[in-house]
Amino acid sequence: MKEVVLSGIRATGNLHLGNYFGALSKFVRMQDDYDSLFFIADLHALTTHPDPKTLHGNVKNIMAEYLAAGIDPERATIFVQSDVPEVSELYLLMNMHVGIGELMRTASFKDKARKQLGIRNDATEGDIEQEIIGTNSNKRVNAGLLTYPTLMAVDILIQKANKVPVGKDQEQHLELTRRFARRFNSFYGVELFPEPENFNFGDHAVKVPGLDGSGKMGKSEGNCIYLIDDEKTLRKKVMRAVTDEGPKEPGLPLSQPVENLITLMELTSAPEVVQHYRDAYADCSIRYGDMKKQLAEDILKITLPIRERILDIRNDDEYLARVARMGAEKARERAAATLAQVREIMGITKFY
Ligand code: ADP
Ligand code: TRP
Repeated sequence: MKEVVLSGIRATGNLHLGNYFGALSKFVRMQDDYDSLFFIADLHALTTHPDPKTLHGNVKNIMAEYLAAGIDPERATIFVQSDVPEVSELYLLMNMHVGIGELMRTASFKDKARKQLGIRNDATEGDIEQEIIGTNSNKRVNAGLLTYPTLMAVDILIQKANKVPVGKDQEQHLELTRRFARRFNSFYGVELFPEPENFNFGDHAVKVPGLDGSGKMGKSEGNCIYLIDDEKTLRKKVMRAVTDEGPKEPGLPLSQPVENLITLMELTSAPEVVQHYRDAYADCSIRYGDMKKQLAEDILKITLPIRERILDIRNDDEYLARVARMGAEKARERAAATLAQVREIMGITKFY
């Protein structure tokens, strides 16, 4: 029997190169060798209170982007998270085995809570806790944000997934998922949930950098190249990417902004092209204008065909509905089977 792979992306906007290399391209390459399920996490998007109309549109958009990138609904199950209500029920049951403390210590929670509360970057766990539960505090962090990892674990465990292709930023959530699976299995003395692991084609999880010289490419960072970007927009973004003033002497290590561009090149350009620019930096002959032109060209080779397919598929409401319906049916059937087992194990069964 094939191993099960499952992954999802939150419905928070168009997909960018970070999503593509961190997640989506792996989905496409895995769909033949695994029993595959890929979904759109609309419930997770609620943790940050999106505008309802925008959320509704984003779900459809992401489905079109999945299909345009090459996920084949005949080979993989593509579905919308909220189409599987069994997930919400298992989320309630699983929360009975999840500690508030372990959720509060999750990096993504601390980060988002800090932002929602408007407190300093260097605030300690104690400071955050005081802001949240202190009697003087009138600020609120929603409980959905705290229990985000429970919901993610349930997405994975309800399908008994073995492999979960995600970017580096999601590894802590996977670690929690394994912990919850182990805890449930040992508490009830069952072997119900497998312990899932990340999946990469190379030897480590990918982190796609942004164009602004700093950290990762991300929707909230405003430093993204989107799969849907047209040629002109994309070239402009790449040409404006932050660099440095040029290497001052031969043999210096790459500065952070230039290293970011080289990382993007490693994902999109031929190895000899990357080597050429590494050498040019080392001997101070590098011209950033040329490098960016080349990079834009190589990114476009990947994104333009996808963009064209997105535009086509996005308008085909009937096709999108068919895919969603088919996916929901398959995903629900499997989820319902797991939920029935969990109810039985936990004693939530009818007495009449
Ligand atoms: P964003 O960070 O833009 O909000 P999501 O959190 O919705 O994106 O991420 C969806 C998937 O894409 C996850 O598997 C995540 O790990 C991956 N991902 C997002 N940004 C990057 C990035 N810059 N590098 C690698 N993977 C990424
Ligand atoms: N938390 C993931 C992200 O921000 C999205 C997600 C929700 C997910 N449930 C999942 C990813 C289950 C993999 C498996 O990107």
